[in-house]
Amino acid sequence: MDGKEGVRKGTDMMEVGLVEKAAVAIKGGKVIYAGPIDGAPQFEAGDKIDCKGQLVTPGLVDPHTHLVFGGSREHELALKQQGVPYLDILKQGGGILSTVNATREADEEVLYEKAHFHLDRIMSYGVTTVEAKSGYGLDESTELKQLRVTKKLNENHPLNIVSTFLGAHAIPPEFKERPEEFLNEMLRVLEMVKKEGLAQFADIFCETGVFTVEQSREYLRKAKEMGFDVKIHADEIDPLGGTEMACEVDAISADHLVGASEKGIEKLGESRTIAVLLPGTTFYLNKNEYAKAREIIEHNAAVALATDFNPGSSPTENIQLIMNLAALKLRMKPEEIWNAVTVNSAYSIGYGEHAGKIREGRNADIVIWDAPNYLYVPYHYGVNHVNTVLKSGTTVYKRGEQLGRVTVS
Ligand code: NIG
Ligand code: FE
Repeated sequence: MDGKEGVRKGTDMMEVGLVEKAAVAIKGGKVIYAGPIDGAPQFEAGDKIDCKGQLVTPGLVDPHTHLVFGGSREHELALKQQGVPYLDILKQGGGILSTVNATREADEEVLYEKAHFHLDRIMSYGVTTVEAKSGYGLDESTELKQLRVTKKLNENHPLNIVSTFLGAHAIPPEFKERPEEFLNEMLRVLEMVKKEGLAQFADIFCETGVFTVEQSREYLRKAKEMGFDVKIHADEIDPLGGTEMACEVDAISADHLVGASEKGIEKLGESRTIAVLLPGTTFYLNKNEYAKAREIIEHNAAVALATDFNPGSSPTENIQLIMNLAALKLRMKPEEIWNAVTVNSAYSIGYGEHAGKIREGRNADIVIWDAPNYLYVPYHYGVNHVNTVLKSGTTVYKRGEQLGRVTVS
C-alpha cells in the first residue's frame, strides 16, 4: 500500500506494498492512517465504507493525454482499414492537422464542456491525476486557448490536471518547409505560457515528417533554459533515436518508445528519464510490434503507462484497457503494471511526492474496486472494475450513478 520510496526502477517495480486486511482513515481530505486493521489506532466516529473483499488502491495517474481538442476523427477509421499509414494521413493535411482546424474553430466554452465530459470518463476508470497536452493549435491564440481551458478544468473539476505545452506537435501549413522558424515561433509562445503559468512541461513530436532528433534536441534544450522540464514523443513510429536524445537532455519522461534502439534502452536504465509506454496507441495504429517493456525493465529503467487519450491514434479514456494491453502485449507483470499506473506515472509528471500512494499526510485519492485482488484488474478485460473513486476523501464517482454533464456528438 505504501512500500519503497521514490520512483520504482527495474526489479523494484515488483514492489507493491500490499497490506491484507487493511484500514484507511481520512480526515479533512487527507489520509491520517493507512495500514493493517489489527493494531490501528482508535479514531473518532465518522462515515465508514466497508471494503471487505474488495481491492483498494491509490487513485491512478494517467501521465499522457491530449485532453482538450475540437471535433473527432471517426472518418479516419476507414482509411486505417484500407491500410493508409498514420503519417501519410498527416502528410495529406489530415490527422493531427484536421484536429488543429477543428480546435482553432471551437470556442473556449465548447472545448471546456467537451474536455469536461472526457475528464469525467477518465475519472470513472479510477484516475485521480491526469496530464494534459496542448498541441492542437500550433499558433499563439489556439495553444493559449487550449492551455487556459486546461487551467480552468483543473480549477473546477475534482481531478488534478498537470499541463504540458505541445506546440511542437506538427508543422502547420503556414510554416510548411520552415520547421525551424515554426519551432522558434513556438518558443516565443512558450515564453508567454511561462508568464501566465500555464504549463509545467514542454513536449515535442520527434518523428519522420514532423521534427528531427536535432531539431527536437535544440528545442528541448531551449525550453529547459526557460525553466521547463521536458518530455518527448520519441520513436513512436519510426526508430529515429529520440530515446537516446531524451536521456541526454535529462527529460523527465520519454513517451512511446516502440522503436527504441538497444542503445536507447541501455541509456534509459542509466538515466533518470522515465519510459512512458502507450500500448493503446500501438493497438489502435494496428501495429504488430509493441514497445519492449521487458527489456526496458530488465535494463533497470522505470516504466509508466498511459492512455495517450487523443482523437487520432488512441481514442480511449480507459486506463484499465491499457493495463490489460500491458499484461498481454508488453508482457508486464501485474505488480509492474500497478506501479506503472501509480507511483511511476506520478513521478513521470513531477507528482511523485503527491500522488500514486496511499500515505499518511497525502490527499486521500483512493479507488475501491469490484475486484477481489490486484491480479484481477489486468486479467478481466474490456469492462470497468471501479466501484468508487475518492478524490481528497470525497466520493467523485460511484458505479451506477449518473456520469458527466454534457453529451458530445
Ligand atoms: O501521441 N504522435 C503524436 N501525437 C499523438 C497523436 C495525436 C493525434 O493523432 O491527434 C500521439 O500518438
Ligand atoms: Fe501523445
